[in-house]
Amino acid sequence: MIVNTELEYKGNLFPSKIVSYSKDVDTLYFKTDNDVVLELTVVRDSVLRFRFTTTGNFENDFSYAITKYASRGYNKLEIEEQEEVYKVTTSKLICEISKLDLRVSLFDAIDGSLINEDELGFHWEESYEFGGNIVKMSKASHDGESYFGLGDKPAKLNLKGKRFENWVTDSYAYGKNTDPIYKTIPFYTALHNKKAYGIFFDNTFRSFFDFANERRNVTSFWAQGGEMNYYFIYGPQMSDVVANYTDLTGKPHQLPPLWALGFHQCKWSYYPESKVKEITQKFRELRIPCDAIYLDIDYMDGFRCFTWNKDYFPDPKRMVKELSDDGFKTVVIIDPGIKIDMEYSVFKEALDKDYFCKRADGPYMKGKVWPGECYFPDFTNPEVREWWSGLFKELVEDIGVKGVWNDMNEPAVMEVPNKTFPNDVRHDYDGNPCSHRKAHNIYGMQMARATYQGLKKYSYPKRPFVITRAAYSGTQRYTSTWTGDNVATWEHLWIANIQAQRMAMSGFSFAGSDIGGFAEQPQGELFTRWIQLGVFHPFCRVHSSGDHGDQEPWAFDEDVTDIVRKFIELRYQLLPYLYTTFWQYVEEGIPMLKSLMLFDQEDVHTHYRNDEFIFGEKILVCPILEQNARGRRMFVPRGKWFNFWTNEIVNGGKEMWVDADIDSMPIFVKEGAIIPKYPVQQYVDEKEIDQVVLDVYYKEGKEDSLFYDDAHDGYDYIKGRYSFRTFKLTGKPNQLIIQQHKEGKFTANYQQFLVKFHGLPFKVSSIQIDNVDIPLANVKMNGDNSMIVDKDFTQLHLVGE
Ligand code: NOJ
Repeated sequence: MIVNTELEYKGNLFPSKIVSYSKDVDTLYFKTDNDVVLELTVVRDSVLRFRFTTTGNFENDFSYAITKYASRGYNKLEIEEQEEVYKVTTSKLICEISKLDLRVSLFDAIDGSLINEDELGFHWEESYEFGGNIVKMSKASHDGESYFGLGDKPAKLNLKGKRFENWVTDSYAYGKNTDPIYKTIPFYTALHNKKAYGIFFDNTFRSFFDFANERRNVTSFWAQGGEMNYYFIYGPQMSDVVANYTDLTGKPHQLPPLWALGFHQCKWSYYPESKVKEITQKFRELRIPCDAIYLDIDYMDGFRCFTWNKDYFPDPKRMVKELSDDGFKTVVIIDPGIKIDMEYSVFKEALDKDYFCKRADGPYMKGKVWPGECYFPDFTNPEVREWWSGLFKELVEDIGVKGVWNDMNEPAVMEVPNKTFPNDVRHDYDGNPCSHRKAHNIYGMQMARATYQGLKKYSYPKRPFVITRAAYSGTQRYTSTWTGDNVATWEHLWIANIQAQRMAMSGFSFAGSDIGGFAEQPQGELFTRWIQLGVFHPFCRVHSSGDHGDQEPWAFDEDVTDIVRKFIELRYQLLPYLYTTFWQYVEEGIPMLKSLMLFDQEDVHTHYRNDEFIFGEKILVCPILEQNARGRRMFVPRGKWFNFWTNEIVNGGKEMWVDADIDSMPIFVKEGAIIPKYPVQQYVDEKEIDQVVLDVYYKEGKEDSLFYDDAHDGYDYIKGRYSFRTFKLTGKPNQLIIQQHKEGKFTANYQQFLVKFHGLPFKVSSIQIDNVDIPLANVKMNGDNSMIVDKDFTQLHLVGE
């Protein structure tokens, strides 16, 4: 019997006392007299890895989650044997290991405060049925401690008091609190006395997290097999915890092409070709910006991957080219199930090469998906991944498809009770053969990885673009993601907001929902509110199921079309800001969306907020989540903020009413911010941009802002052809100084910035650019307080009367 609770005490076994200790560079081994070994690795001063075995020996150390690029190295490592504990000290952490029973306590090395301590600590239960152990860990949960993270869970951000399960699951029309759903990201962050730490339990078996649900003072996690293997990541800043987790499990391998941050339109399904053209033409006709159009399963011949239905799409290459000439990138769906059909070359080849998954006793893993009975490639075999990546040659290199969307890769199987493979299916697991119990949670990730390899190879010299539905920690290295089959309800709008924020704090920022809802049909108002939120999500795509009516921006009334256009245009204007945010994510692992507790953990009011978030570093957004609303109450974090629409300045640190009729939503800009903006385009790089707007929001004091730019595609930026500008703003009662520092070898087309000042508390009487006085008449300080400046200025100095 599999025990689904950490507290099933009867069979629990515990480590006994430590009998030996040894050290190998950065790794310490503590062995007990019942053959438990704790392997403690100091990954960084603030990152410790804890790994346990109960047999004296460790299995092969292999992880799909941890990237080979993860940083390693510490400034300090001291080990001291004391009477009751071993004490390990780095420059950030003190870790005490009890000699009596291996229990661990962790302290801040600077002020000595307790951050986290084991309750029972590591314990386990033997699994006679499957071999190995059910591995368990329990830790003390303190009053006021709160918990966040865990990927796509559709529950309130603060997880305290709840229990969750991790088992990647196809979840059509899931709802609030449905668990588990599509992703397994066994990483949480916690705030204890306003200090943040995180725990990443790198175990791919079905796992559970209990945040003071079963017992008030205990937080525990356990898995139905594998090792107790977790990373403890200390902040004390929550953003550092997330950045360190993202460093461990990987940042995206490259920036996305900028068009991937544009607006995408999808439907199950647009066909035939004339329908696709009708949709794309309508976007251009109505002047609603759009960069990508999607083909769902009906483009294929009988749902056979890598084929085309020639009745619907007689000449895909020509169509893709024509779409591309009009600025549309074509993205197509590819599923894992390969139709059993001896006439079908992909099937035949995989069969000949022995690439399909098999059951324990030898037969192939057979399951029903869209094409009928299918076999499924074993993406955990590197040779299979290589083969799979090669299948994209024609689609990408020849036909010109720009992106691939991996669906049903949980893997989903129809008409079976557990919706997926049975447990006995065998997997290669990169040379560590195992059953589906261990491989299930990473199957979709490995499919997306293989797809990514193909796109990367055949899109070259352009950048690849992939989307996946299923994911495990680390999938963000290869692909973007969406939140699966949601529903057109107001509750799902709330869920979409939560999921995008939660994914960002789980290291996976490039995420978005099916805008408008996949199942059922939204009314115009819901669709509008969803677009308003969706344009602030890193991945921005409308998608819906064909059974439920149309969901294009013009499918409602004209007012809806106009408001939707206005918000999509806003996204296109903000693209340089969004791209800069993406760059910070790729460079430093900084989450692109910041929930309020991540933005200002010192203020406990933020610990229970759900709706508001920071888009990038400077823009505060709060969606309207109710019907007929003309505004809402929202929490504005501490500091001064400009209302984006009115320029009114508000003092944060409190809840307040904000007007937002249907054509608006609450958006605020942090004082001191400098926001780069492009002109509206119908698609990315439609025009040569000759001027970038810098919206400057006055602040009395100092504030830094960033602006990253490059060729928007290709790899030249890796060779230094990018431009990275830091603006340092200093505001005084009658002065404003902006200093610019520029790095990188990229030269943009634009020569000028149109600098727009907001909230200047004085009338400008003199201006200096790079220490040269500029006659006011020459700079033409416009009525709206804007002026044109050469883009490479180093200092702009305004003085007031
Ligand atoms: C399920 C996916 O979640 C959905 O987005 C897609 O449209 C359908 N499968 C059909 O491919």
